[in-house]
Amino acid sequence: MAKKTVKDLNVSGKRVIVRVDFNVPIKDGVIKDDNRIVQALPTINYLVDEGAKVILLSHLGKVDHKDPEKTASDKKKNNMAPVAARLAELVKVPVKFVDETRGAELEKAVSEMKNSEIVVLQNTRYEKGESKNDPELSKYWASLGDLFVTDAFGSVHRAHSSTVGIAEILPSALGFLVEKEVTMLSKAVHNPERPFVAILGGAKVSDKINVIENLLNTADKVIIGGGMAYTFLKAQGKEIGTSLCEDDKIEMAKDFLSKASDKLVLPVDFRVAKEFSEECDNYIADENSIPSDYMGLDIGPKSVELFKNALQGAKTVVWNGPMGVFEMKTYAVGTIEVCKAISSLPGAYTVIGGGDSARAAIENGFQDDFSHISTGGGASLEFMEGKELPGIAVIQEK
Ligand code: 3PG
Repeated sequence: MAKKTVKDLNVSGKRVIVRVDFNVPIKDGVIKDDNRIVQALPTINYLVDEGAKVILLSHLGKVDHKDPEKTASDKKKNNMAPVAARLAELVKVPVKFVDETRGAELEKAVSEMKNSEIVVLQNTRYEKGESKNDPELSKYWASLGDLFVTDAFGSVHRAHSSTVGIAEILPSALGFLVEKEVTMLSKAVHNPERPFVAILGGAKVSDKINVIENLLNTADKVIIGGGMAYTFLKAQGKEIGTSLCEDDKIEMAKDFLSKASDKLVLPVDFRVAKEFSEECDNYIADENSIPSDYMGLDIGPKSVELFKNALQGAKTVVWNGPMGVFEMKTYAVGTIEVCKAISSLPGAYTVIGGGDSARAAIENGFQDDFSHISTGGGASLEFMEGKELPGIAVIQEK
């Protein structure tokens, strides 16, 4: 059965609580990337056009509730005010920011709303109960609205008050962004046109075990790059110097290699350095020739060629995780080359599963060259693992 979408709700004149994921990178009050806000606009604009009273809830960063000093500094750092200000620049109707997550000022602002107006609440994580899906908090937030719409794809893997709790109380539906993400990711992961190639990177195998396992079952090839590749190389008995390695995952890597060595593609050369820095001496080393006091920080040109060959003819490609330390220019080459290679595959359906690889593609100007770039980090990983996402599961069926 299909989930209700915002179009299945009669929203005119109704108070519609929309959970968005406005967890955007902010430095000194300046938003570094507003993509998540932009991606939520279709739902927000639709509701405005339909005459709804739009109440927006989002988290921003993390708030520690154990140590009062840390709580205060986290709240200061993760204030939603700049996000509401950016939203106000992107929509045509008034946006009122309420610097509260509960209380008289918030209730007054909501009761005074006219149709097609927008109210943005302060960061949901200012509330201790948010991450615990506290029933009292969910009930309170639900009392502010008539309907609930989830458009926070990046947060649907969290069972929190604002993602699940409210939806258990109010009539609910998916927003356009969540609907699009599910459609695009499902097309790649559940119903791929073959050959289907997955490229996984990032620092740790432990973060991606379930994704690797799932993709080894469904994909035709799984290319492994980034820090996690070294655990696999060590599992093959290769010399990896001081490269990142999760020793407690070597047995698991051996297991993956023995079950699916025909599907796994591992890098064969690396840009290595003595330190985790681009200032120090660095050069390309072949596999088995990484000196014992050097670490691999990016894949090398032979690996790029190998990966390009593995991608040839692919009809579906899913990419998650950078090939090296892409934050440092010297070690970003492998990630950029892989990004170029995927984006220029003729006729392929190409998806980036969010997080760092999405950032790398967007920062390097490839955002229009992929079929889909997910706004989810952890959420798209869990989707690729085949897990049920609580923020979607809770939404009513048609
Ligand atoms: C994300 O950035 O992946 C989402 O906004 C979820 O954030 P969280 O990991 O802090 O729950």
